[in-house]
Amino acid sequence: MFRHNRSLPLLFAWIAVLAVVWPLAGQSPNYGVGRPPTAEEVRAWDIAIGPDGDELPMGEGTAAEGKQIYQTQCAECHGSEGQGSDQGGALVGGQGTLTGSNPVKTVGSYWPYATTLWDYINRSMPFYRPGTLTDDQVYSVVALILHLNGIVGDNEVMNAETLPGVEMPNRNGFVSDPRPDIGLTQQGRTK
Ligand code: HEC
Repeated sequence: MFRHNRSLPLLFAWIAVLAVVWPLAGQSPNYGVGRPPTAEEVRAWDIAIGPDGDELPMGEGTAAEGKQIYQTQCAECHGSEGQGSDQGGALVGGQGTLTGSNPVKTVGSYWPYATTLWDYINRSMPFYRPGTLTDDQVYSVVALILHLNGIVGDNEVMNAETLPGVEMPNRNGFVSDPRPDIGLTQQGRTK
């Protein structure tokens, strides 16, 4: 492995350095800066909405109400009918293509839950102004995207109660991964 004898002393030197540095690396020193976040700050970061939609906020919207918001805030990138552009992917179409040789993945063809569509738009869209839509506006554009995909009606109200019940076309297109989780600790793997 070490063809030149010169490599061996170098290797031992590295092992010696690692033996000293490694145990120190695991402990974070206390610099005396920072402070624990306030409850309000934690609430502001804690915005994740899971598939079952339990965390969805109050508010509501319909596709009809979403049209105006979509045209002014989303269409430039995702196309006036959700067909996509060179700036943003298609949000509509592709249903029935996933098993073919040219699968088109969109919200309508691919996404398994409507609740996580709310989460995604709320946290990351519009692309250059994430977090600027009100909860009602997010419900409205979600309703519009679902409507353009033929999933909900024009005036169907989307809110914390109705959104989790929306059946997405690809809801059962995912298989669960049966492998067991391994336990993790802060130090890394437990086994
Ligand atoms: C400036 C361009 C731009 C604007 C405006 C914009 N988006 Fe996007 N959007 C993108 C890009 C780029 C992506 C892909 C982001 C990525 O993959 O990280 C994306 C991704 C998405 C996705 C995920 C699509 C998928 O299947 O993965 C959704 C849903 C979405 N946008 C909705 C919206 C909505 C609703 C609005 C308006 C409120 C909006 N976007 C405004 C550029 C834009």
